[in-house]
Amino acid sequence: MRKAADLKKETLSLFKLLPWQKRLYVVLRFLTCPFQEIAEFVPDSGTVLDLGSGMGIFSFYLSKKYPGLSIKSFDYNQSRIAVCTEIALKNSISNLSFSAGNIVSQDFADSADCILLNDVFYQLSLADKKKIIEKCLEKLNSNGYLIIKEVAKKPLIKYWFCYFQEVFVAKVLGLNQGLVNILSVSEMLDLLGQYKVSVSVTLLDRGYFYPHIVYSIKKR
Ligand SMILES: C[S@@+](CC[C@H](N)C(=O)[O-])C[C@H]1O[C@@H](n2cnc3c(N)ncnc32)[C@H](O)[C@@H]1O
Repeated sequence: MRKAADLKKETLSLFKLLPWQKRLYVVLRFLTCPFQEIAEFVPDSGTVLDLGSGMGIFSFYLSKKYPGLSIKSFDYNQSRIAVCTEIALKNSISNLSFSAGNIVSQDFADSADCILLNDVFYQLSLADKKKIIEKCLEKLNSNGYLIIKEVAKKPLIKYWFCYFQEVFVAKVLGLNQGLVNILSVSEMLDLLGQYKVSVSVTLLDRGYFYPHIVYSIKKR
């Protein structure tokens, strides 16, 4: 088993050709998001879809941790997809592909063993949240998992810290289509309760400023 610290170092080194501002973003993202812990929810073989893959940090991390996976990553930010594709090509990473597209309105794959929405769900309206859940459940193989990593609304201090940061990014910097639509655990469970699924909830906020939370969802 490869050590998490080595995998992290290897993943970070993939971004070394980028300008320092982008490298700083990648390092900060690694420091503030529990990628190593979230990776434990992902199977070590089969097909994984990383929806809203951003700079591809988690996709690259998974490709190194689980070489037996086939990872397909999607984001509507074309420049991020172009950068990730270049990094994958330059480093001969063959178990990972990147495509540009809107995960709500466009088709993304035929089937999958695991689908990831890592800090993406809160950027969608309620109607789009429902659309993406339905789409993912349709694509998911019977033993597959939909992993939604979000933030919780508790502890309150961590929630406000996270909320104001996201509002700044969305409203002041004008990114993410301006939407910050975070659901509480009970709102998430109410929403997921509308589908034939079982859900397990894991809080991953220990040691982080953010109230990270993982919803691991399986079809019943
Ligand atoms: C906060 S970033 C998270 C990126 C990555 N998952 C990570 O954990 O580092 C959210 C990403 O979701 C993407 N995104 C949001 N809504 C999307 C949509 N409807 N279709 C495709 N990508 C979307 C954004 O472009 C952005 O790159």
